[in-house]
Amino acid sequence: MYGKMGDSLFLGLDVGTSGVKAILVSPAGAVAAAATVPLSLDTPRPGWAEQDPEAWWQASGTAIRRVLEQRAGARVAAVGISGQMHSSVFLDKSGAVIRPALLWCDGRTTAECREIVERAGGEPHLREWVCNPALEGFTLPKVLWLRNHEPAAFARLATVLLAKDFVRLRLTGVVASEPSDASGTLMFDPGGLRWSREMLDAVELPRSLLPDVGGSAAVLGRVTEQAGALTGLAPGTPVVGGGADNACGAAGVGAISPGDAVSSWGTSGTVLAPTAEPRVDPGLRAHTFCHVAPGVWYVMGVVLSAGGAFAWYRDQVARELPDTDQRDARLVEEAAGVPPGAEGVTFLPYLQGERTPHRDASLRAAFVGLSLAHSRAHMTRAVLEGVCFALRDCLAVLQELGLAPSCLLLTGGGARSAFIRRLQADVFGLPVTTVNREEGPAYGAALLAAVGVGVFPDLKAAVQCTLTRAPLTEATPEAHRTYQRVYERFRACYAAALPARS
Ligand code: XUL
Repeated sequence: MYGKMGDSLFLGLDVGTSGVKAILVSPAGAVAAAATVPLSLDTPRPGWAEQDPEAWWQASGTAIRRVLEQRAGARVAAVGISGQMHSSVFLDKSGAVIRPALLWCDGRTTAECREIVERAGGEPHLREWVCNPALEGFTLPKVLWLRNHEPAAFARLATVLLAKDFVRLRLTGVVASEPSDASGTLMFDPGGLRWSREMLDAVELPRSLLPDVGGSAAVLGRVTEQAGALTGLAPGTPVVGGGADNACGAAGVGAISPGDAVSSWGTSGTVLAPTAEPRVDPGLRAHTFCHVAPGVWYVMGVVLSAGGAFAWYRDQVARELPDTDQRDARLVEEAAGVPPGAEGVTFLPYLQGERTPHRDASLRAAFVGLSLAHSRAHMTRAVLEGVCFALRDCLAVLQELGLAPSCLLLTGGGARSAFIRRLQADVFGLPVTTVNREEGPAYGAALLAAVGVGVFPDLKAAVQCTLTRAPLTEATPEAHRTYQRVYERFRACYAAALPARS
């Protein structure tokens, strides 16, 4: 342990899609308290996805109060916030929320994506200015959607924020962001670490809509009296920049250097690899964002419905089982009794369209190959395999770019189940491992908080002092060969995901 903060704790907060998680972490890296407050998702139309930012703030307040109650009298030395990426918070000049946020998995902005490419004078300019393609889930197309579809709301628009930055505003009164989240807006130059004047000019939006950008581990604000009264945090507690959930999740398993790679199974699924410079996929199938470690970037493939697909499936087919955790365990146990390949059943997990590698918001999910002989267990196995194959599609893009990891660090739901850990190893054909902490983005955010107040000199030291890796789960060559054939079947079923023309 560095520094002199032996009796202090660090608060890590993750504003996710299915819930807000708060944890307290000691300077030695132990998790002293944890609480999760669930959130619901509105889908006003197929392909749309919205949440009320005030619900994030309410849930954050509750989660913080709950962890503080678990450690009465504890001193929180600093707060780090992480959150879902890209989701657009639209605020008026008084700081009031204008309408629900359009989330990272919202696919309504296809026309606006085309508009961006046209206004920019072609995709090569996007690659040059912002390192990424125009994708429906990113923030900029949502701002243009507001301008095109809700002009009265757009006329009131004074500030566009991301989920965790909105919570920061409510906690500290400060309007700010940091590079890992800013680089997911399509308005930020990840190499130059600045808002892209070129992009903003091309789409005719003023810079004044966007927050100033500070460091992920820099103190960007302090808890206000009002937020202190609401959360139980001491007014004046420092709040660091924090980071995007994927970046904080990677930090939370120690993946902050080139050579590392992470497979994350949250509501979305991602496979990411840190790089020493912004590396752009020539096919723009993967994203290029800033990491929370300074001077590090990452390339990431995204599966829009991973844990989200499993949760949807569970809620449709297993309502009779008592609570969510038990339902998940029971379903996975059933699936484990079915052979690899689910005896011919394939699931394409594209409930909200897909980013990597298809870049198509109009795709939809499908079960293919069902017969009277198949049961729920086959369908569950197909869902779990389908998510792993979609993650494998992401890994394949990274491998094509020469980012060939020798093993994958697992995080999220797919890391907690021994069956899904093995499934990932066998589908990827690579060893997988986990670390001694399961808290994902919230843990990464807590480490950034500890760095921010000098407990560790930098994130690398924080990771080294707090995380240890479990022994590798090796892929079984025979199982990998079987899954290779099933993966080819998965890819061959793609046409079933194309929208029906009626
Ligand atoms: C990444 C993405 C998702 C969200 C999930 O580009 O959209 O992984 O960050 O919270």
